[in-house]
Amino acid sequence: MWIPPRGDDYLIQGGQMNEKPILPAIALFLFLILAACSSSSSPASTNSKIAEGERTFKQNCATCHTVKLDEVLVGPSLAGIASRAATRIEGMNSREYIQFSIIKPSEYVVDGFVDQMPTSFGKSLSEDELDGLITYLLSLE
Ligand code: HEC
Repeated sequence: MWIPPRGDDYLIQGGQMNEKPILPAIALFLFLILAACSSSSSPASTNSKIAEGERTFKQNCATCHTVKLDEVLVGPSLAGIASRAATRIEGMNSREYIQFSIIKPSEYVVDGFVDQMPTSFGKSLSEDELDGLITYLLSLE
């Protein structure tokens, strides 16, 4: 434990000198926390991919899927799909399962639903659109 030296010297000089470096240290600390929170690959490009994916979703998928919890149109709500996807088919991670269910929707039919999802998205969506769409869905944890 640090015991402050006694006397006026400490109050006038030491006291002031000890306090000053704290602000930059706090700033650096906050910066490191922020840096750690943002995603590892360039956050700006991930964000614009998510925005593009959301657009593609609204144009192609929103007639049957919402992203609100438990709100069912024709297909299941995709709220939380990023977490659920990893549990669907053994050996497939979230990204693989989501891609699989968009391109080959009939090969795995979610319990309680009918095999009604169009099978044409593998052809009608460009690779970029598909990639954005998957990135968007992976952001729905
Ligand atoms: C005509 C309605 C319809 C459209 C349009 C549609 N889907 Fe589906 N989707 C379904 C149905 C019904 C299911 C459940 C049956 C199944 O698993 O195939 C489903 C299942 C899914 C699943 C699996 C969900 C889970 O919980 O495992 C994903 C992911 C999915 N759709 C994504 C999409 C995406 C992305 C699009 C747009 C490119 C889309 N769907 C367009 C009807 C649709």
